[in-house]
Amino acid sequence: MRGIEAGNNLLLGVTGGIAAYKSIELARLFRRKGVEVRVVMTEAATRFVGPMSFQAVTGEAVRVRLFDEAHEAAMGHIELARWADHLLVAPASADFLARMAHGFGDDLLSTLCLATSAPVSVAPAMNVNMWEHPATRANMSLLADRGVRVLGPASGDLACGDTGAGRMLEAAEIVSLLMYPRKTGLFAGEKVIVTAGPTREAVDPVRFISNRSSGKMGFALAEAFAEQGAEVLLVSGPVNLDTPAGVRRLDVQSALEMHRAVFDNIRNADIFAGCAAVADYRPENPSDRKLKKNDDQMALSLVKNPDILAEVAALENGPFTLGFAAETQELAENARGKLAAKGVDMIAANLVGENLGFDTEQNALLVLWSDGEQRLPKQPKKGLARALLEIVAEQYQT
Ligand code: C5P
Repeated sequence: MRGIEAGNNLLLGVTGGIAAYKSIELARLFRRKGVEVRVVMTEAATRFVGPMSFQAVTGEAVRVRLFDEAHEAAMGHIELARWADHLLVAPASADFLARMAHGFGDDLLSTLCLATSAPVSVAPAMNVNMWEHPATRANMSLLADRGVRVLGPASGDLACGDTGAGRMLEAAEIVSLLMYPRKTGLFAGEKVIVTAGPTREAVDPVRFISNRSSGKMGFALAEAFAEQGAEVLLVSGPVNLDTPAGVRRLDVQSALEMHRAVFDNIRNADIFAGCAAVADYRPENPSDRKLKKNDDQMALSLVKNPDILAEVAALENGPFTLGFAAETQELAENARGKLAAKGVDMIAANLVGENLGFDTEQNALLVLWSDGEQRLPKQPKKGLARALLEIVAEQYQT
């Protein structure tokens, strides 16, 4: 997504939440960076901070209501939507995100979200249980699919006394994510696709074949790439994880869906990291009705899924490819074999079992490339992802 630059017009939407006070600082920081800021508040937001505070910082009248004759005469809401080079909703409450996800246009800010063709970002802020509620999860996934960039939330102590994910990012973090999305870091300006999580291969409408992948390594990798300045697309199978800050996410279910999502986007990619545990096989003829248990035995005919990583590696002028290999024995031999067989630039291999690998917090890796290798000792997956990227950066540059 294009970042915000000095001279751009930013429409800052403020919705109801204790974090609304942070948005005054946010507006002030954007102004200091030379960005034109106009603020639209929801009615609920005005209960937390007064429009006058924003007016003082931006030098512009703050708008709240859709049918406000004086303001509409000066600049109609469609004009305002066109004026914006970027629309940022911060804080974005659970209620507002739900209305946005479902295309409501029942107040000024939700109408602007529908009417604008500018990139849209949201900085959610809410109680941890609200953030983790399946309704909010589903809404966030709808928004992410539509290309809405989700910034945060951070974890920590929440205003309600709970601890967990739900804090709005600090104003300075939001400004740096939006204004300097890819100017610094090991992968500044590079476009990266990461696959993560398991895939689900339907047997019938209620059953599937899958595996134990949690998606944690792939999400950590996507986050580390974004921290290093890359523009990251994360193609994820079904997992229970929040989208890392500054990462665009596409959710998929099956290997075939993951294949399509990757190849729809691969043309521009500089780096492809296949971290997903893609199911090797899928049921040949998934039933469109729930299968009944009539016989004492049943056989399921399986067909091979496309090997996404190998296909990407085989592309002419394709991206740098990083694959993963989970092995239960003869780690180095198997991983070297995979490096050659799939034709990838680098393989990160890990021994599964002994509390390493799938669905664990920590992992250790043996990283291999055509003429070298390096071991990364057991550590939390986030640190491991950062260390892995340093090796990737070296090989990518050569
Ligand atoms: O062959 P194996 O499944 O062990 O290879 C693992 C690597 O290949 C991982 O990087 C995984 O993401 C990728 N892969 C893939 N598509 C498949 C199977 C594996 O992209 N169908």
